[in-house]
Amino acid sequence: MDTKTQYIWQGAFAQLEKWANPADSFLVTDENVFAAHKSKFKGWNTIVLKAGEAYKVQQTVDVVIDRLLAMGAHRQSTLVGVGGGVITDLTGYVAGIYQRGIRFGFVPTTLLSMVDAAIGGKNGVDVGEYKNMVGLIRQPHFLLYDFNLLKTLPLAEWRNGFAEIIKHAAIKDAKMFRDLQTHTLNHYRKNPIDLASLVKRNAQIKIKVITQDPLEQGERKLLNFGHTLGHAIENKYALSHGEAISIGMSFAAWVSAYIKGYKDLTALMGLLQRYGLPTLSDFDARQAFKVLVKDKKSNGVDIHFVLLAKTGQGVVQPLLLVQVEQLLKDFQKLVHHG
Ligand code: GLY
Repeated sequence: MDTKTQYIWQGAFAQLEKWANPADSFLVTDENVFAAHKSKFKGWNTIVLKAGEAYKVQQTVDVVIDRLLAMGAHRQSTLVGVGGGVITDLTGYVAGIYQRGIRFGFVPTTLLSMVDAAIGGKNGVDVGEYKNMVGLIRQPHFLLYDFNLLKTLPLAEWRNGFAEIIKHAAIKDAKMFRDLQTHTLNHYRKNPIDLASLVKRNAQIKIKVITQDPLEQGERKLLNFGHTLGHAIENKYALSHGEAISIGMSFAAWVSAYIKGYKDLTALMGLLQRYGLPTLSDFDARQAFKVLVKDKKSNGVDIHFVLLAKTGQGVVQPLLLVQVEQLLKDFQKLVHHG
């Protein structure tokens, strides 16, 4: 990996100065985060963007670059993405290309970005319906975890984060799967100690995987569980990332039951529902397939699909695209016929 990321667990936003000098650092955030935590940005050069996946596009990258130039950002400057996955992906990408690459770090403000989006160095933007089609892999210098930032997080965002947490449990950690089965979203929301330990446990699952395989040549592919179909329907149906990958995980688990004899399909779907996530959805299988063919994991003939051999053990398996097309149609019959 190009950089060893420093993880500051249980930090406070106010400590950010230790990792980024306010004189030549530039914070990138969105309107929602800025409005919720306005006082924290005092004294920092800040670029405030409109919120939402619709703004994770090249046009916003150009806006940020113009602002950085106007504000005097130089090669020794540090960019800090303060926000959820859209902000961290976009900031990491700008930092990777501005003056051919400058130092950057993140302060994740959502559960999803704390356990997933801010970790791993894949940064970039969407192109129309195609998620993350343009970007690069470059590791942040630091990640600062301030759990107090979650206090203003809306329920839908909590659910988003739990979709990735359940993904980690499904592919890597059967014990965590069982723990999640005995708790609820509200339990974690109200118990800061359990929440901090759950976040760290999940972040560490991802850190371990990406440290061993930063360029996604093997093990890292497992993190795409649920994301192949998820990404194909997320933008088209304006689903949240959590909702989209929850449907994607249900599909992948259903395929796993069929191809791998995976036994916990009902338990997995039940766990997703327990955390307020959808498992089936009336998407257009033909349209989803058209987008899925363009997935970065596909070579036009087959696609590396993540399946479950058992709970806690994800496996990567190439599936022929024609087979995936048929499986998608069959999966849709569950929606229509139960
Ligand atoms: N930025 C998310 C990842 O690298 O997986």
